[in-house]
Amino acid sequence: MALWAVVPAAGSGARFGAEHPKQYQRLGDRTVLWHAVQRVACAPGLAGVAVGVAADSPYQDALSGLSAAIYPYEGGAQRVATVLRGLAVLPGAAEGDWVLVHDAARPCLARTDLDRLLAAGGPDGALLAAPVADTLKRGCDDRCLETIARAGLWRAFTPQLFMLGTLRTALEQAIAVGADVTDESSAVERLGLRPWLVAGRNDNIKITYPEDLELAAVVLRRLEREGV
Ligand code: CTP
Ligand code: MG
Repeated sequence: MALWAVVPAAGSGARFGAEHPKQYQRLGDRTVLWHAVQRVACAPGLAGVAVGVAADSPYQDALSGLSAAIYPYEGGAQRVATVLRGLAVLPGAAEGDWVLVHDAARPCLARTDLDRLLAAGGPDGALLAAPVADTLKRGCDDRCLETIARAGLWRAFTPQLFMLGTLRTALEQAIAVGADVTDESSAVERLGLRPWLVAGRNDNIKITYPEDLELAAVVLRRLEREGV
């Protein structure tokens, strides 16, 4: 069974709010997208990476100099559509193969986290995540309505690892019923499966706002120093 990756990179980065989407911002001497692809491509024996990009985006420059086999394709209007299309472009992929899905906006994936995720894979799949640390409030009009018990609550990260056939079925069904799918696990959970939560590093941050970019630069330097 082969191992593949899909990197959805077709978002517009509305919350980041820059002229160019966040995945094309510079981070060190490369782009955010380059680092995200390069880090997931460290998976041992990876057969290839499908990268879903928006039409007319400068992806060629952003993806140059990577050692993995890269398959760029045009993403969809929603993240879920971008990921589903990616499954179709992996050349020769079989339903029993494994797929890592990794956000283009997460350039700080540690090699050690990737290894632990791959070791945890089973028929229900697995995802990197971290237990919620802050106290959680439900708000309305900027006032606290209640405090939500955080026991058992996790923040979902990427990569997330699933069998290709399972992921395809899950995404197709979620799209068919118009389910709000912000990660692959939520679609797989709708099938009744229970993916493994693999506790990952808190510095596997997703760049969402401009201040996250500076933080990511610090984290990347730390990962490089630690050699992970
Ligand atoms: N994504 C995608 N196709 C879409 C929407 C999002 O491939 N139609 C990707 C983004 O490029 C990103 C990942 O999904 O790598 C996670 O999404 P998010 O962080 O929400 O990025 P954006 O949708 O671009 O940002 P925003 O929600 O602020 O507009
Ligand atoms: Mg979004």
